Amino acid sequence: MSIQKVMVIGAGQMGSGIAQVCAQAGYDVIVNDVKQESLDKGLANITKNLNRNVEKGRMTEEEKEATVNRLTWTQAIEDASSVDIVIEAAVENMDIKKSIFKTLDQHAPAHAILATNTSSLPITEIAAVTSRPEKVIGMHFMNPVPVMKLVEIIRGLQTADEVYNSIEDMTKKLAKVPVEVNDFPGFVSNRVLMPMINEAIYTVYEGVATPEAVDEVMKLGMNHPMGPLTLADFIGLDTCLYIMETLHEGFGDDKYRPCPLLRKYVKAGWLGKKTGRGFYTYS
Ligand code: CAA
Repeated sequence: MSIQKVMVIGAGQMGSGIAQVCAQAGYDVIVNDVKQESLDKGLANITKNLNRNVEKGRMTEEEKEATVNRLTWTQAIEDASSVDIVIEAAVENMDIKKSIFKTLDQHAPAHAILATNTSSLPITEIAAVTSRPEKVIGMHFMNPVPVMKLVEIIRGLQTADEVYNSIEDMTKKLAKVPVEVNDFPGFVSNRVLMPMINEAIYTVYEGVATPEAVDEVMKLGMNHPMGPLTLADFIGLDTCLYIMETLHEGFGDDKYRPCPLLRKYVKAGWLGKKTGRGFYTYS
């Protein structure tokens, strides 16, 4: 299956990163978001990253222009009618994702693959709202997308082998490394990462140590590039809570119980870097 034209749904942190790497790899990319403001922010973010690549000598000015020109920006999801693949990177909420996939199923051509960048929601359940569950697959990029090498590729129950193979090829064309996993809550990445973050929050909640101390232990002691609480702020505390809830509900095991402090921060609107306050404050 030849993929040439891509639509990315959602122009936020993940969506704009995915759009950038697709355009850099030579794909024509339509970026869709419900808000014009998000599209503007997405373009600004990509332009900033590409300018840095030019400054660092990793890309010429002409290559930058060509990359920007391969991107189109739209609020009309109906524009999916001209693409070979849609990569959905909207908010992490099952009802919203189901509604997007139902709409995409109506507008995308019959051959088009519908991929989701969900970080933990069941691919099989998302696929079930479409008339093409064999063409639905998880394509989970890591944040920051332009830097991180991994794409976790998740097969739903009905995902066809040829669809998996196309996504594996595309991932390699994006200069990323595909890793195949099956559809289970949190897949591999967040089933392993999030309980560690949640446990780090418990150590703060129980007064074992300050956020700074917890992060220092994990950075210097385990060689992690960021401490777990800095990473939680970077991912977004609302996303962390949502993933913990998905694990808790999906496995029915209290070892995944979200820390009450995480809930409290999310209720307060302290969502991390994006709102200026999480475990740390950001100006
Ligand atoms: N977008 C684009 N590029 C970025 C970036 C961003 N948001 N943040 C950093 N970079 C680039 C920098 O520009 C820099 O590039 P240059 O080569 O041009 O200098 C490079 O990355 C290194 O950045 P820094 O020197 O500023 O800082 P660093 O060495 O600490 O690296 C980091 C930054 C790559 C983010 C590193 O701290 C790291 O790897 N952190 C952990 C990230 C991680 O664990 N991600 C997974 C999160 S979980 C997830 O995404 C899945 C989920 O479902 C929740």
